[in-house]
Amino acid sequence: MCGIVGYIGDKKAFPIIINGLKRLEYRGYDSAGIALVNEETLTYKCKGKVSDLENFVKGKNINGNIGMGHTRWATHGEPNDVNAHPQISQNGYFTIIHNGIIENYSRLKKKLIDRGYKFESDTDTEVLANLIEYIYLKGKVNAEIAVRLALTKVIGAYGLVITCKEEKDKIIAARKGSPLVIGVGKGEYFLASDATPIVEHTKSVIYLNDDDVAILKKDELILKTISNNRLTPKIQKIDLEIGKIDKNGFEHFMLKEIFEQPRAINDTFRGRVNVDFSTIHLGGLYNVIPKLADAKRIIIIGCGTSWHAGLVGEYLFEDLARIPVEVEYASEFRYRKPIINSDDIIIAISQSGETADTLAAIKLAKEAGATVLGICNVVGSSIPRYTDAGVYTHAGPEIGVASTKAFTAQVTVLTMMALVLAEKRNTLTEKDKLKLIKELTEIPGIIEKILKNSEDYKKIAELYKDASNFLYLGRGYLFPVALEGALKLKEISYIHAEGYPAAEMKHGPIALIDQNMPVVVIATKDKSYEKIVSNIQEVKARNGIVIAVVSEGDTVIKSMADHVLEIPDTYEALSPLTTVIPLQLLSYYIAVMRGCNVDQPRNLAKSVTVE
Ligand code: AGP
Ligand code: GLU
Repeated sequence: MCGIVGYIGDKKAFPIIINGLKRLEYRGYDSAGIALVNEETLTYKCKGKVSDLENFVKGKNINGNIGMGHTRWATHGEPNDVNAHPQISQNGYFTIIHNGIIENYSRLKKKLIDRGYKFESDTDTEVLANLIEYIYLKGKVNAEIAVRLALTKVIGAYGLVITCKEEKDKIIAARKGSPLVIGVGKGEYFLASDATPIVEHTKSVIYLNDDDVAILKKDELILKTISNNRLTPKIQKIDLEIGKIDKNGFEHFMLKEIFEQPRAINDTFRGRVNVDFSTIHLGGLYNVIPKLADAKRIIIIGCGTSWHAGLVGEYLFEDLARIPVEVEYASEFRYRKPIINSDDIIIAISQSGETADTLAAIKLAKEAGATVLGICNVVGSSIPRYTDAGVYTHAGPEIGVASTKAFTAQVTVLTMMALVLAEKRNTLTEKDKLKLIKELTEIPGIIEKILKNSEDYKKIAELYKDASNFLYLGRGYLFPVALEGALKLKEISYIHAEGYPAAEMKHGPIALIDQNMPVVVIATKDKSYEKIVSNIQEVKARNGIVIAVVSEGDTVIKSMADHVLEIPDTYEALSPLTTVIPLQLLSYYIAVMRGCNVDQPRNLAKSVTVE
C-alpha cells in the first residue's frame, strides 16, 4: 500500500512532493512524511493525512531540490509519528521510504541488535534502513552497492526511495512487488507509486520491474538489477489527463465515479462493439480467443469488488458461452496448492493492477503453464505486464477507495468476452446475441435514468442510516450484486452488512431478522422473480424491513415491501450493471449522513500491494 513520491532536479521539491502525495493519498493515509535533501536532510512526519503534514511544516524550512514523500498504510507498528516514514538509519546516513513488507525483518532486526543497533520505531522499514547503513559502514562500499547488497538479504516486497547523506546528488529507488514509476523530465526525474502524481509534469515514464534498482541524478538515470546487470530503460508515453483525477465539482470522488459510469461503460465498449454487424472485437485477446473458446475450464481470480465482478463473469460465461468457470479469491488460490492444468485459462481481474495477492496468484498460474489473461483498469500497471494477454477497462482513474465504476467496467468487459465466446462456440442464436449486444449499448442510457433518482436514495438513507446491520439478498446474476452492495456499505459507512443468495437466507441469516433489520432485496423481473417474491414474504413475516430494487412498474413487490427503488428493465445477463447503481448510491448517502470519510474509509487503502 502507501503512496511514494520522489523528486530530483532544479525545482523546489516540496510542492511537487506534497501535491503528488495528495494525488496518492487514496493509497494510504495513516501518516505522512517528507524528507528534503539540504546541507542536512530535513525530515518532517506526523500521524494523519497530508493536510496534517502541511500544517506541521508551516514556518519550517522546506528548501531543497531533492526529496521524497510518503503516505503510510501501516503494516508493522501502529500509525504514529515515530512509525511514519521517512525512516532514518541509526547514524543518519540513510533516509528511506518504503511501500511493502520486509517479511524477514525480525530475524534481520535481531542480528542488527546483536551488532549494537538500537531501534526507535516498530517498522520493518527501519530494519532495512539500518541494514543498508550497516553494510555501507562495515563494507566501506558506496550507497548503491550497500542498497543492492542489503536487498539480496531481504525477503518480502518493497518499493523504495533512498538517499544517503554522503552522496547528496542522487536518489536510489528499487522495486520488488510494490509498484514504482519514474517520470522522465528535462534535467529532472520524478518517482511515484503510480503515474497520477507524475502526469502534470511529464508524460514520459519508466515502469520499474521486480528486482530493478534505479540510480537517479538530476541529469542521469542508471537502471540495473539487484545483481548489478545494467538494463536499458524503456521509456513509455502515458495518456492520462489531469482533469480525470479531479473531483470536477462533486463532493467526493466516489460520487463523481458513480455518476461517471455511463461514460466509463461507453468508453469500455466503444470501438469494440459494432451493433450494425453484431460483432465484438477485443484486440487484446485476438491471439488467445481460439484457446479461450476451447478451454475446458476458466478460473477467474481477484479480490474484493473485482472478485464480485468475477462471480458475475461465472454466470455470464456459463450461461452464454457454456464454459465451466471457477471463481477464486486470489489470496486463497495462491496458498492452497490449486490444481492448474496447462490448458486452463486464468482470468485475473483488478482495478489497480497492483493487488499483491492477485499478482502472486498470476505468477503461480504462469509457473503451472496456464494461459493468464488480465482485466485491468490501470494502463501499464503490473498485472497487464505479467499476463499473457488482456483487456483494459477504460473506466479512467478510480480514486475513491470504494470501487464503483471499475466494477461496472469489469462486468462490461466480461459481458463482451462471454459474447465473443458464445459466438465462437455457437451457444447463442444470432438473434439472442444481437439482442444482447444492442442492449449492452443501451446500458449507459439506463444508468443515466437510474442516477436521476438520487432523492429516493437519500430518503431511504436518512431512515436507515443508524441501523447496526443490513442484509442484502439476490439470486442468480444478482447474488454477486448483493455481495457488492453489502461490501460498499461496510467499507464506507462501517455498518455491518452481509450479502447472501436469497434462497440461502432460510439456512441461517433468517434468524437475524426482526423489526430493526433492513433487508435490501434485488428483485428485478427475471427467471427467479417468483422465488424472490417468496423470499420477501419470508422477511416480512418476521417483521423485517424490505427495501427492494425492482423493475419499473412492478406492483406486486410494491404492495409488500416497505420501500421500492424502481429501475428500468434490462436482460437478466446485463442486470448486474444496472441493479448495482442504487446500492452504490444508497451506501454513499448513508455514509455521508453518518459523517464518514467516504473517499478514505478508515483502515482501508485503494491498492492493497501488501499481503
Ligand atoms: C472495493 O470497494 C475495495 N476497496 C476492494 O475490495 C478492492 O476491490 C480490492 O482490494 C481489489 O482491488 P483491485 O481491483 O485493485 O485488485
Ligand atoms: N511496512 C511498512 C510500515 O508498516 C510500510 C507500509 C506501507 O506500505 O505503507 O511502515
